[in-house]
Amino acid sequence: MTNQDIFLCNKSDLKQTGAFGATIDDTNGKLDIVIIDMAFDISASKSFLPSEESLKAYINSCPHLSMPMETFDHEFLDKEDPSLIVCSTHGARFRSTDGFCLSGPCSGSSLTPIPLTFTEEAIYLKIESIDI
Ligand code: FES
Repeated sequence: MTNQDIFLCNKSDLKQTGAFGATIDDTNGKLDIVIIDMAFDISASKSFLPSEESLKAYINSCPHLSMPMETFDHEFLDKEDPSLIVCSTHGARFRSTDGFCLSGPCSGSSLTPIPLTFTEEAIYLKIESIDI
């Protein structure tokens, strides 16, 4: 992590829903980001923090109509299959591993990935490799 990287959330913020919606607000405007725990299991114990290897992030903008994907705060994962991110507007489903849309009106398109960096407790946007 460098001192230019931008704080997104704590790892513990993903324990309830397996995801967290963060907003960066700077002079260029707002950028909504969703951070996903790809190993999230709704029935598993929430006593451990997600591992860095299981964390991914994407710009929170559905390729269909450029809408934010969640209706309720931090609820992005499919309740039946938490390996999928769901857009709540028209139901597009994206693989959490690479953001590829498997079904829905934007099938075949992909979410835009965001690079992350970490400390023991926190998750940051890796700023040197992204132009926001
Ligand atoms: S805006 Fe996401 S599926 Fe239509």
